[in-house]
Amino acid sequence: MSDIRLEPVTGSDPELKLALSASGLPTEDLEDTGRSFFRAVSSDRSTVGYAGIEACGDDVLLRSIVILPEHRGKALGKSLTRETLKAVDVSSAVFLATTSAAPFFERLGFIVVERADVPPAVLATRQLSGICPASATIMKLDRAPT
Ligand SMILES: CC(C)(COP(=O)(O)OP(=O)(O)OC[C@H]1O[C@@H](n2cnc3c(N)ncnc32)[C@H](O)[C@@H]1OP(=O)(O)O)[C@@H](O)C(=O)NCCC(=O)NCCS
Repeated sequence: MSDIRLEPVTGSDPELKLALSASGLPTEDLEDTGRSFFRAVSSDRSTVGYAGIEACGDDVLLRSIVILPEHRGKALGKSLTRETLKAVDVSSAVFLATTSAAPFFERLGFIVVERADVPPAVLATRQLSGICPASATIMKLDRAPT
């Protein structure tokens, strides 16, 4: 059983915005359409982090993965990512962009991909086209074909 559960929050949630901006993650497009966000709640009901998914055509962008600083290093990031991926249709390819956590996502089954190999709808997201630096690493979940 997971040590956290996810509760939906809106992109206008002030605590979500605060948590993301405090960790240097983009907040400019939180209230645009096509995004879903979640609050990660631990067994003692405290908020330990947030996560988001963004639809881009048939594919999905995993985004806004954050564990609040005081809760890091306790495998909650791993649980948060796995729980969030359960909300994604198994037939969708999952991409993400990160400037500092590529090794963390590699442990969860993501592999680095070149921008040339990323679908246009994913490249066109505000995260990849404008907000994230061009130097951000783009990754794709490497899962067995369905
Ligand atoms: C990245 C982040 C979510 C990790 O959360 P966490 O709860 O500390 O991570 P976990 O404890 O689940 O770590 C899982 C494993 O990844 C490793 N790891 C965690 N963060 C890492 C990082 N930034 N780089 C490399 N490895 C990392 C851990 O050492 C651990 O390794 P282990 O399985 O061998 O013990 C957290 O550091 C964070 O919120 N960072 C700021 C926001 C961010 O960069 N988000 C990602 C971009 S969307």
